[in-house]
Amino acid sequence: MYILGIESSCDESAASVLKASGQKTEILSNVISSQIDIHAQYGGVIPEIAAREHVLNILPTIEAALRQAKIQAKDLKAIAVTQGPGLLSSLIAGVETAKSLSIIWNKPLIPVHHIIGHIYANFISTEKQPKFPLLALVVSGGHSNIIYMPEHYKFKIIGETKDDAAGEAYDKAAKMMGLSYPGGPIIAKYADEFRVGGKTCNIELPRPMLNSPDFNFSFSGLKTALLYKLQKDKKWKECISEYCFAFEEAVIDTLCHKIIKATQKYPAKSVLLAGGVAANRSLRAKLMTEISKKLPETKLYLPNLSYTTDNAAMIASAGYFNYYKNKNKAITNFKKLSARCDLKMS
Ligand code: KG4
Ligand code: ZN
Repeated sequence: MYILGIESSCDESAASVLKASGQKTEILSNVISSQIDIHAQYGGVIPEIAAREHVLNILPTIEAALRQAKIQAKDLKAIAVTQGPGLLSSLIAGVETAKSLSIIWNKPLIPVHHIIGHIYANFISTEKQPKFPLLALVVSGGHSNIIYMPEHYKFKIIGETKDDAAGEAYDKAAKMMGLSYPGGPIIAKYADEFRVGGKTCNIELPRPMLNSPDFNFSFSGLKTALLYKLQKDKKWKECISEYCFAFEEAVIDTLCHKIIKATQKYPAKSVLLAGGVAANRSLRAKLMTEISKKLPETKLYLPNLSYTTDNAAMIASAGYFNYYKNKNKAITNFKKLSARCDLKMS
């Protein structure tokens, strides 16, 4: 069957076609109309501008996804759309478009939680799927969560951020250092330059909540600690790569420590990394090393880089597994469906 995925929760209008059969899934198209260049001028996402751009871009993006997949609307089994959480005005563009297309094309609609979408980026594969029970470390611009899943579409949040999300901390740290939006890729680039240089880092930053008995995170103290260091150091611009390295190491150490501790309490066959920060190569490498050393029985899944930051392939994948598990039931009563910026996971 073919599922069309639609995503518009923040600043990417995205559409994708997924071909699926049983546990096998394959992405036939993954089109993203990014607004990053527009929002970069303002140092972050401006919701009003994002919404206007979605209205302009969403239909051409969907048309391109169908064209690239070489299928027609009549071939679709269902439409999956991000219902929330996210920026309300951005979500409305995707949800209302999906509802209209559902009515015109007479296709059922599957509302998808954005974070669940990120998790299901790890199920896009024709090869071996992650085994349950599993733990997902979801690290994006809006969320940092550790989620336990005993089976498909059952979720228990066992850890969450108490303040800033990991990606948000990257974005804010970048802004403090006068770097462009989004902060993650640019900080990672400078941090890599420092790593390659092989010098010793003399900047010490805290690992927030490392020894707390829970699986929660807090990144706002790290951001403030970085700010104080920068304010004290008149020559910080000359060692920006060292600051980026110190910041990135603090984030990565904290994330790795918490997911390993969580796996010791909640034995899992698989650990999944998900969300925009999952694009970070050093985080991926450290998780791989740590998990094979400390949890040799657990298999780590890292999403393909094209499915880390916001995309619609992950929404189509989550929609498909929901549809599959719930015996092909999907929403056809559209009056009950609206975009929700504060949507809960269950
Ligand atoms: O999942 P995503 O696209 O959007 C949300 O759902 O929030 O994540 C975006 C976040 C941004 O904060 C961005 O700075 C971060 O992911 N990010 C990265 C990298 N690429 C994107 N963070 C660290 N390293 C990266 N390579
Ligand atoms: Zn996201």
